Amino acid sequence: MAETDPHTPTDSLVHQPPMLTLRTDGPDQTRALAAVMAPLLAPGDLLVLTGDLGAGKTCFTQGLGRGLDIDDRITSPTFTLAARYHGRLTLHHLDVYRLDSVAETMDLDLPDLLESGVTVIEWGDQILSVLPDQYLLVALRFPQPAAGLDTAGFDTGGFDSAGFEETGRIIELIGHGRRWRELWPALTDAIQGWAR
Ligand SMILES: Nc1ncnc2c1ncn2[C@@H]1O[C@H](COP(=O)(O)OP(=O)(O)OP(=O)(O)O)[C@@H](O)[C@H]1O
Ligand SMILES: [Mg+2]
Repeated sequence: MAETDPHTPTDSLVHQPPMLTLRTDGPDQTRALAAVMAPLLAPGDLLVLTGDLGAGKTCFTQGLGRGLDIDDRITSPTFTLAARYHGRLTLHHLDVYRLDSVAETMDLDLPDLLESGVTVIEWGDQILSVLPDQYLLVALRFPQPAAGLDTAGFDTGGFDSAGFEETGRIIELIGHGRRWRELWPALTDAIQGWAR
């Protein structure tokens, strides 16, 4: 029997999570991007959304809702923790920004909730320890201003005074676990128009 070559890529290298970097210009594009992902989703799928306040997590969720034929207006569930919408599939929309501790997720009955629909969790990276290991990480961020850009009086070309672009967002997708590896070719195909 052949010896294992210590330099052969190990499982962990072969199974580097697949990653895509996208860019949208404006909330409508972020909604459209999420909407074209929706037909690929099935009950049990989990999307963990990260990004600063105002990065576009709720906006992305609204697009998913549209793609799932949900008619209700999806708003930020910040004060309710979890909202449930019914469309072609059930969409659970959680926002755990205000959770004081991971233990508070016990009240949500996460295992049942997760298997009964598609689940989106804003700030979900804060509770990864109680989530399944198969999920799509959707990390939204503001692009950095171009090098050498002077925001003090010159044409800032869409950058606001804080140095951030107003309508541009970088959206990184990282697929964790087998479900997302299998979905990756179709996912890449669906959203290639926003690839950076
Ligand atoms: N490319 C873009 N994608 C998404 N939102 C954008 C974009 N450009 C501008 N915006 C604006 O940024 C804001 C995003 O707000 P949203 O509530 O979706 O953020 P959030 O990440 O959910 O914030 P929070 O952490 O407070 O829940 C909206 O006002 C939206 O119009
Ligand atoms: Mg939000």
